[in-house]
Amino acid sequence: MEVTALRLMINMWLLLQVQDNYCALKADAAFLRVTPARLQHFEYKSVSFDCEGFDGELGLRVMKKSQNANTCSTNRNIQKGSLCTIETVYIDDSGEYWCETGDGKKSDTVNITVTAGSVILESPVHPVKEGDAVTLRCKNKTASSTISASFYKNGFLIKNSSADNMIIPSVSRSDEGLYRCSVSGSGESPQSRLTVRVFQKETIAICSDQLPVLLYLFVRIVGTMLWAALLLLVLRKRDSGKDRGK
Ligand SMILES: *[C@@H]1O[C@H](CO)[C@@H](O)[C@H](O)[C@H]1NC(C)=O
Ligand SMILES: *[C@@H]1O[C@H](CO)[C@@H](O)[C@H](O)[C@H]1NC(C)=O
Ligand SMILES: *[C@@H]1O[C@H](CO)[C@@H](O)[C@H](O)[C@H]1NC(C)=O
Repeated sequence: MEVTALRLMINMWLLLQVQDNYCALKADAAFLRVTPARLQHFEYKSVSFDCEGFDGELGLRVMKKSQNANTCSTNRNIQKGSLCTIETVYIDDSGEYWCETGDGKKSDTVNITVTAGSVILESPVHPVKEGDAVTLRCKNKTASSTISASFYKNGFLIKNSSADNMIIPSVSRSDEGLYRCSVSGSGESPQSRLTVRVFQKETIAICSDQLPVLLYLFVRIVGTMLWAALLLLVLRKRDSGKDRGK
């Protein structure tokens, strides 16, 4: 009897753990994918957007903030297989993009910058996890060989690199900020924000009110109850068997 109660409690505890993990997984998994995977893009190139991890959601679309939030211009969506492809980006395509479902659930916002200049900074599209290694790369429009570059954070020079990149081996909250880079003789990139997160503490709306989670919980709870009932039955049978044996 005590064993059963203990098992029930352990199961309940496991259940709560699993639910938390499921939500965290879901939160990390639902995001706006940008191709090429960077925040800054050269003018006249192609950029595509996709929504990942919104399995089973209806009316999924890519939104761009303008005077009133707009669906990513579908008249320029040529390539099939991505929710939104802008074949030729212009400076005006700079701005905040996100994924939105038919019933209004949103992914994180991504700030895209399109530049007419000849240098861009390649930095992570999404917030990075504390402790991860992060590579910032400075890209010249036409340079074929490796170039040397300088990196700036919040307006201050932080590194002269003899290569085109700069690596932060283990990011922390103090690495957050606005980054840009420059290639001597070619120019400077625009600025983009690097955001660092402690992922376990992040939750987004999509996990709390999702049907699959509720369904999963329901199945788990019913399963646990059946399991407990079965165990009780077996124990009682065994006990009565012992009694008869005496
Ligand atoms: C995007 O840019 C806008 C305007 O500069 C700023 O208010 C917003 O916080 C930025 N969002 C992200 C996710 O960096
Ligand atoms: C970078 O690109 C610009 C514009 O295309 C070009 O004029 C410049 O020579 C390039 N710089 C390097 C270091 O290749
Ligand atoms: C980077 O190089 C510039 C000149 O090219 C120099 O003034 C500056 O002190 C250097 N900074 C670092 C952090 O090495």
